[in-house]
Amino acid sequence: MKAKNIAIILAAGKSRRWGGNVPKQFDIIDGRKMYACSVETFNKHPQIDEVVIVVPDGYQDEVSRENNWCKVTKIVSGGDERFNSSMNVLQALGNEKDDTIVLFHDAARPYVSSEIIDRVLEMMKNYNAVTAAIPATDTIAQMNDDKNNIKDIPDRQFILQVQTPQGFKISTIREAYNSAKKDGNFTATDDCGVVLKYLNHEKIGIAQGDEKNFKYTFGVPNKLSDNLDVSAR
Ligand code: CTP
Ligand code: MG
Repeated sequence: MKAKNIAIILAAGKSRRWGGNVPKQFDIIDGRKMYACSVETFNKHPQIDEVVIVVPDGYQDEVSRENNWCKVTKIVSGGDERFNSSMNVLQALGNEKDDTIVLFHDAARPYVSSEIIDRVLEMMKNYNAVTAAIPATDTIAQMNDDKNNIKDIPDRQFILQVQTPQGFKISTIREAYNSAKKDGNFTATDDCGVVLKYLNHEKIGIAQGDEKNFKYTFGVPNKLSDNLDVSAR
């Protein structure tokens, strides 16, 4: 039997950089709640079998009420950091067979397209871990530890801006997170980073993303210093 493809919509963030009265993924854009846009796109994709939504504590009822998507099988509570939300959902999917494919997607990227999903799934035929990404257009600079000077400017031709969806064979991402849990200093801002750090034999495929698949991050313009304070998130 063909392996199952499960989309995971990560919608449990606190939007600290965005501000506002509700987390950004529950703000209205284009006439509906932001998280609903990507749920809809995955729900109608012919190769996606199930959709799981990860929500902040207190949002279970609201999302359950709004759930009129036929493929949504679970609404899971998230954790403090993004990686805690990923761990929670992997636990909730504990009974899935090893060859199940999971696609983690940021609810804060409402304009994901079915073509990007196609490309990530296509790459999954050759890899156990894949990320959508686009070439960096701006030059990217690394700061010194005090964050007040430029330390390095890596060659832009080798720099990508990483997006989601990120696809994994579920046994691969489980193994990566199991190793991460044993590391007291573990932290991560995406799921591929966990594979990169803890399963270094595993190659991570690159699928073409799209500039339109940006992540809503900052709300009202902040001072640079405000942004730097939360740069680790
Ligand atoms: N996310 C999550 N659980 C968390 C943190 C983040 O599910 N504990 C989700 C967010 O809802 C978002 C994506 O992961 O869809 C990460 O994007 P980001 O811009 O970092 O969102 P927030 O973490 O909410 O924002 P901030 O970092 O500014 O607090
Ligand atoms: Mg965050």
